[in-house]
Amino acid sequence: MGVIVVVGAQFGDEAKGKITDYLAAQARYVVRTGGGPNAGHSIHLAEGAVVLHQVPCGILRAGVTSVCGPGMVLDPKALEEEIRTLQERGLFRGELIISERAHAILPTHLVEDAWEEELRSATNPTAVLGTTRRGIGPAYADRYGRWGIRFGELIRPAKLAERLELLYASKPYLKNLPDRSQVLADLSEVATRLAPYVRPTEPILWSAVERNESILLEGAQSALLDVDFGTYPYVTSHHPTSAGALVGSGLPPSEVTAVIGITKAYATRVGAGPFPTEVAGDMGAYLQREGGERGATTGRLRQVGWLDLVLLRYVARLNGFSSLALTKVDVLGGLDEVPVAVQYVTPSGETLTNYPPADAEELARVTPVYEKMPGWPKFNERLVERIRSEGAAALPSTLKQFIDYVGRETRVPIEWVSYGPRREQTVWLGRSGGRTAAAGISAWAG
Ligand code: IMP
Repeated sequence: MGVIVVVGAQFGDEAKGKITDYLAAQARYVVRTGGGPNAGHSIHLAEGAVVLHQVPCGILRAGVTSVCGPGMVLDPKALEEEIRTLQERGLFRGELIISERAHAILPTHLVEDAWEEELRSATNPTAVLGTTRRGIGPAYADRYGRWGIRFGELIRPAKLAERLELLYASKPYLKNLPDRSQVLADLSEVATRLAPYVRPTEPILWSAVERNESILLEGAQSALLDVDFGTYPYVTSHHPTSAGALVGSGLPPSEVTAVIGITKAYATRVGAGPFPTEVAGDMGAYLQREGGERGATTGRLRQVGWLDLVLLRYVARLNGFSSLALTKVDVLGGLDEVPVAVQYVTPSGETLTNYPPADAEELARVTPVYEKMPGWPKFNERLVERIRSEGAAALPSTLKQFIDYVGRETRVPIEWVSYGPRREQTVWLGRSGGRTAAAGISAWAG
């Protein structure tokens, strides 16, 4: 079965949590490889909804080991709270381990995230990123600046004190930092409680590979938020791509069996940055309402738009998707037609089909050209029930047409369709062609 990588194919919030949870039923390990509490993975269980921010979604399944991988930046206090909440709700069913190489988000990073956004705003309001203010950017900056504190250091009190002193010394430009000795005392306390989870995680995963156990790399954020390949500077600070998932786990590319991209049937974006297919007005409000498009982490309303094939073709090649999961098709049910952007025209009249401008301002100036696909009916209880009992054959014919179209245009087969928030509302379409890499996944899902 090998290593399966799940990657968000848009600007985040594609229902990666839901699809990862679905695939986790067959996994032995689920690994988060990047980001931290900026993520919000919502999963709808019979017991109610759960939103995971730092803990991988494998935790909801007994017999699965969840790994907070080396590439993550974790807020120790928030992580402890998340663990406690899961335990109190009886949902902490698997095992959890935290890489000694993962970095800690400290109170200084939260102060710095807010300070940076204010600095951008004061200098040039269009430069504001709209970060989640969870300290992600500053924590990664310290990681690469080599000021950061790893979990392996966090749990050794003398080392923590030494690293914290250095970290504070590196920020003479920040006023109003929380008192260092208080931060040290608080962190030491939390670290003592988290210490039993902290381990070298790569050897555990390498041994799992040798035993041919299945490993799912749970993407967080998405390819278009990649610090290099996304809409820079309106991006997050790590690599939410298939390549990034390997760096963030310590697993080698040669072990990857499949790379699954997750895309909604439309698009959303939260925070600042270009969004060529954004829809405003009544239709925008309709999609926001029907799709429940509010950020799971920050509660912000998401901007909405149509599916963008230029970006999807780009992201498919960047990540080497072996298949796609198409989510939230039910949200579009009942529309007469469903527009899909097939190309861009630049202000100079150039046509772009699969490689968007790297420059965010240029991307904001393109005009999308739309193909209008016939709409499909609303997903009433009867249709939902039929899909549940008969599988993909019961999907409305115009939706099948849409699925085929997106698969053909991106040259990536759509392997799953998600048609509602609940765990069981995902249907496997089988491997409609696809690359050999997808062979592993059919064994998982079939
Ligand atoms: P940061 O990751 O908090 O630094 O935020 C940088 C940008 O990425 C902002 O536009 C955020 O809204 C966006 N972002 C970060 N994490 C997520 C996510 O999980 N879903 C959607 N957008 C995100």
